[in-house]
Amino acid sequence: MKNHGHYRLADVGKTVTVQGFVQKKRNLGQLLFIDLRDRSGLIQLAFDADHPLRDEAERLKNESVISATGQIVERSSKNPALPTGEIEVSIDTLTLHSEAKQPPLLIQDDTDALEDTRLKYRYLDLRRPVLQKNLRIRHTIMQAVREYLNPEGFLEIETPILTRSTPEGARDYVVPSRLYEGDFYALPQSPQIFKQLLMVGGLEKYYQIAKCFRDEDLRKDRQPEFTQIDIETAFYSEDDITEMAEGLIRHIFKSAHEPLDEAPFKRLTYTEAMNLYGSDKPDLRFGLTFEDYTERLGTIPLDFIQGKLVKGLVVKGQNQVLTRKTLDGFKDLIQDLNAPFSFIKKEEALSGSLVKHLSEAQHADLNAALEAGDTLLLTIGDHANVALGRIRLALRDLLQLADGKPHAAAIITDWPMFEYDADENRYYATHHPFTMPKGDLKTIQESPETLMSHAYDVVINGHEVGGGSLRIYDARVQEAVFAHLGLSLDEAKERFGFFLDAMQYGVPPHGGIAFGLDRITMILAHTENIRDVIAFPKTSSAQDLMSEAPGPISDTQKAELHLK
Ligand code: AMO
Repeated sequence: MKNHGHYRLADVGKTVTVQGFVQKKRNLGQLLFIDLRDRSGLIQLAFDADHPLRDEAERLKNESVISATGQIVERSSKNPALPTGEIEVSIDTLTLHSEAKQPPLLIQDDTDALEDTRLKYRYLDLRRPVLQKNLRIRHTIMQAVREYLNPEGFLEIETPILTRSTPEGARDYVVPSRLYEGDFYALPQSPQIFKQLLMVGGLEKYYQIAKCFRDEDLRKDRQPEFTQIDIETAFYSEDDITEMAEGLIRHIFKSAHEPLDEAPFKRLTYTEAMNLYGSDKPDLRFGLTFEDYTERLGTIPLDFIQGKLVKGLVVKGQNQVLTRKTLDGFKDLIQDLNAPFSFIKKEEALSGSLVKHLSEAQHADLNAALEAGDTLLLTIGDHANVALGRIRLALRDLLQLADGKPHAAAIITDWPMFEYDADENRYYATHHPFTMPKGDLKTIQESPETLMSHAYDVVINGHEVGGGSLRIYDARVQEAVFAHLGLSLDEAKERFGFFLDAMQYGVPPHGGIAFGLDRITMILAHTENIRDVIAFPKTSSAQDLMSEAPGPISDTQKAELHLK
């Protein structure tokens, strides 16, 4: 049976059964029309004044579920805005399957409802075409993953949800054990340890569309429960893995019919990305790369600039748009960073608060470098890159630099192995503690802070959509990394003992990557809200407003679980 949204003029004369939800009724006196909706769209049902089912049709409430049989006829007044707008169904029989109450939200793309109402009545919200479209895109991506990886010899393998704490560094969701008083399972923050053990188990190429759980602060692109396209390989080099990742992303974008820049994914080291774009997830759909002005301007005799790092970017020909007010707005964007901001504009002459402090040579240099209409934006100090990175993104939005551009991906490599947390006076693994450092055991033990790692991120349009690394496969290196993270051998054995044991039994060199399925779907669905691409999402305060989770449990359940 065809979905009714696919009927066209060529189907005129056919007798068909259509079914779905009553979108709306239009009573034109002589004629009554019903718009019937299913997943494929709308079709018009027509009843004239003396139609035997006219009264019954008139009583139908919006969102009720019906089926109807009749002949497809050509419409006398056509609606070019609707794919089925040239035809309608002249009804012979009508069945009401289920009557609907007045819904608390308008079932259409531009609904009137607040998001909380939409989440409480998610099953109604899901009827809106835009959400149906997003879930279709999500489905396309999941199928594309399988289409791409299966012929490459990957096996889809599931890993446990009831497990022990994993090392991604967020807080765990835990489940109390009934049989073992006082013990807990943890829900996986990712399948990380299990996928590595699959490599130790000789499975060679694994993938899984895996649920992950992290109890962390939520943002527009984070959910407590989200989905990874998780991949692990044995005997692949870093280049092999990033090439496979690029091929997979290309296949996904092609399957979703979205334009992706055809040039090979730009490969940047973490340091290059920070120096050129002020971000470890740069948006490469436009230029505006930074230049280092430290040598040219770092001698200006002002306290906040002399001897400091000076970073700049030139905005060409936009002096009219970059008003004083706009530039002050940029200052507000970075006020938490302690990175002074300044600018030099050129019309006939140079202007800006720094100009009177320039030497003759500096003045001549900038005067030659800039053309009338240009603005040089400068940030200063240790956080100059990050500050200018924020301004670069504000310029993107202000000047619409990314609009209409194909999606642009990058692979960011050579991440620092460790990050120092001054508040807690301890080191963290930038990626995770199983990531292979670029350096020998001696460097790990003697100068760990200088170490880079075999970690890589995949970035699209300024979003981190995936991350992975080559893994440590030598128990001594693994122990040295744990030690630097402040985990004694005993503690490491307590938490990851089974994993350290496995490393004694022959471990293939291995590595992998995980993509955020939700984030890739957001990009392909052109939405900034992660809840728009998940059928039953949580709010930004981690609640499911529909099922009212989290919720209380009974005293009996508590007693069984040894909880007070
Ligand atoms: P990582 O922690 O970088 O790596 O996660 C991989 C990708 O998952 C997505 N992601 C999220 N999406 C939605 N909500 C969240 N709370 C969330 N957290 C992460 C991001 C991210 O790039 N085990 C490693 C992977 C590996 O080394 O192979 C891992 O989980 O798109």
